[in-house]
Amino acid sequence: MKKIAALGLAGILTAASTAAIAVEPEDAINYRQGAFSAMAWHFGTMGAMVKGKMDYDAEDFSRRAEIVAQLSKLPMEGFIPGSYTGETDALPAIEQEWDKFEGGMNTLIENTAVLAEVAKSGDMDQIKPAFGEVGKTCKGCHDNFKD
Ligand code: HEC
Repeated sequence: MKKIAALGLAGILTAASTAAIAVEPEDAINYRQGAFSAMAWHFGTMGAMVKGKMDYDAEDFSRRAEIVAQLSKLPMEGFIPGSYTGETDALPAIEQEWDKFEGGMNTLIENTAVLAEVAKSGDMDQIKPAFGEVGKTCKGCHDNFKD
């Protein structure tokens, strides 16, 4: 009963999605880290192609760009109250500067959507700057909110 009351309060404090109320902090941490890892898996290969370290395959690049755009929507719901200690690199600043953090996530969603769209052109002159924007978004947030 006590636990249910605490979780209910947490839900009120964050106004997070109802899914967030039902999970344990460790699960939320694993979930968001998994989403980021999958994102980095594809983004890394895309980066190798952009930098010419790997042959550019337009179809494969485009497929990965779509995946990254979809994955960018996942981590947010894993940032729940009580999940900023333990096996995590997420900084408590996330809770203190929630609007800024959420803004960063929304920028990621927007920029990865642009990249996925531009990737369809197969034109590296357009892809490069769009890829760069996404990279900056990753780094910008990590500098502020990741240990
Ligand atoms: C708005 C903030 C934000 C953005 C944007 C963001 N990240 Fe992260 N990222 C985080 C936070 C916070 C963590 C730490 C998560 C944790 O340890 O609980 C993290 C962790 C990671 C990790 C480590 C996962 C693990 O297994 O511990 C990788 C890899 C990563 N991000 C890649 C990326 C890539 C690639 C992008 C851009 C395509 C990106 N991130 C964009 C905030 C962000």
